[in-house]
Amino acid sequence: VRNLYLVRHGETTYNVEGRIGGDPELTAHGKEQADALARHFSRVEVTHIFTSTRRRSSMTAAPLKAARPDCRIMALPEFDEIDAGLCEGMRYEDIQSEMPEQYAARMRDKYNYVYPQGEGYVTLRERVERGLKRALFIAGDAPGVLLIGHQAINRMILSHFLYRRTEDVPHIYIPQNQFYHIVATQRKKLFELVPFM
Ligand code: F6P
Repeated sequence: VRNLYLVRHGETTYNVEGRIGGDPELTAHGKEQADALARHFSRVEVTHIFTSTRRRSSMTAAPLKAARPDCRIMALPEFDEIDAGLCEGMRYEDIQSEMPEQYAARMRDKYNYVYPQGEGYVTLRERVERGLKRALFIAGDAPGVLLIGHQAINRMILSHFLYRRTEDVPHIYIPQNQFYHIVATQRKKLFELVPFM
């Protein structure tokens, strides 16, 4: 794979309410972001699109799928967002007031913290690495691959190429109106944050 374009899904109803996890749909603004993404990538050489199995990821891919019937689209569960376990659907403020010890533990060490009955960045790494390996194998020497992931997932993918210190990974900036263009060969490493809206 020569060029990897790493996008986060568009704005969801949960993003607006400040809730985490779940399987929310895109808002009207999120759908506009998906349309803008499709416009941008109608002019870029891309042959494969990978999404998670979540609705926000496939809804972000939908306009692009219509604009680029030549692209192969696959939903991989390895790219589903971090499972917040008992905290799924909660707002950070709710966790702080209802489960203060959990909130404090995550604040202390966000990378190594694991949600009760869920995942943490530390346990996510194995699954994301597996998904990335699978996607890169499927795409082979494709000129361009687009991956529509989630905040924590995209942080893990960036860290795979960037070799960041683990404690920095949960804080990498993952916007919804810009994507990361990654070129990582033995001789060249390029990371560019590109606005599409
Ligand atoms: O808020 C959106 C979201 O994708 C949640 O589903 C997820 O729990 C969170 O981001 C991950 O970001 P952080 O690790 O900063 O809480």
